[in-house]
Amino acid sequence: MGEVDPAFIQALEHQPKLDITEAEGIPLIDLSPLNSSDTDADFSNLVAEIGDACKNWGFFQVINHGVPSRCREKIEVAARKFFALSKEEKKKVGRDEVNPLGYYDTEHTKNVRDWKEVFDLTVKKPTIKPSSHESDDKELIQLMNRWPEDLPELREACEDYAEEMVKLAYKLLELIALSLGLPKTRLNGFFKDHASFLRLNRYPPCPAPHLVLGVGRHKDPIALTVLAQDEVGGLEVKRKTDGEWILVKPTPNAYIINVGDIIQVWSNDKYESVEHRVMVNSEKERFSIPFFLNPANSTWVEPLEELINKQNPAKYKPYNWGEFLANRAHSNFEKLDVENIQISHFRI
Ligand code: OGA
Ligand code: NI
Repeated sequence: MGEVDPAFIQALEHQPKLDITEAEGIPLIDLSPLNSSDTDADFSNLVAEIGDACKNWGFFQVINHGVPSRCREKIEVAARKFFALSKEEKKKVGRDEVNPLGYYDTEHTKNVRDWKEVFDLTVKKPTIKPSSHESDDKELIQLMNRWPEDLPELREACEDYAEEMVKLAYKLLELIALSLGLPKTRLNGFFKDHASFLRLNRYPPCPAPHLVLGVGRHKDPIALTVLAQDEVGGLEVKRKTDGEWILVKPTPNAYIINVGDIIQVWSNDKYESVEHRVMVNSEKERFSIPFFLNPANSTWVEPLEELINKQNPAKYKPYNWGEFLANRAHSNFEKLDVENIQISHFRI
């Protein structure tokens, strides 16, 4: 057993169990009704399935989603090539405290270091964000993607793939709106200037998978995540019924979808953002590609007025998404002694 830097070691209660038993997994949802050319097609079964999955799990997988497999293969190949570059080459596109896009390998989740390396890019260019995490600082900066010079195919693969992710995310957003009893396009307006981003993850083999996590337990702060995982597996979701960690078994060509904190707030807790984490493997490296659908940075996030009333009053005060994210990015960048910002801080 190799030595592992103590910065990576999880507290005892958060160390993963490696002998996970078979258990009921997250729902698998077939999106093929959306591909029907029949304009009067009845999506009510699909909408009900999505609603149940959001309410009971916060996570589901989709198949027949319409994303061409060629597009996914291209980005998977390009991601492998990127991470195979030397550290020195990767650091040339390294993130810094001003622009958090590009490569980094020092992320902390809940103040413990993650066993992973990452490449982040924004989908709509240029993205505007507050220049710092201080909420009284109103200066805005443009976020520019960083691309490695010697790997031009990475840029093309990421840009094509991101376009497909946006299309799929909109389909899901509309199904989610319908499942909340809202008009299909009720949520679309929040995403006109969306500040979504794409992340390439590599989880290297780890000599101590029983002590370390690829990503520590967390909830995604965004609206919706669309994740591609490879065949190795390692993503675990905290089951709502009993709090058990459940492995999300890789399904070829499927996407894993999860509700983020923003949908939790919009839905006034009807759909909760669920904790998840990533286990690492002593032999195999693992790759994954999450797409994070974000509203415009200027958005004030609060429970939707149609979903609150006297019996069910708003559970959250409005918060500004751009400021929230800037604050979070800062805390991911260095180890802090305090908990990072959470939607619970805005709970009424
Ligand atoms: C994340 C995440 C899961 C994975 O990046 O927020 O939860 O399987 N990733 O990489
Ligand atoms: Ni996540």
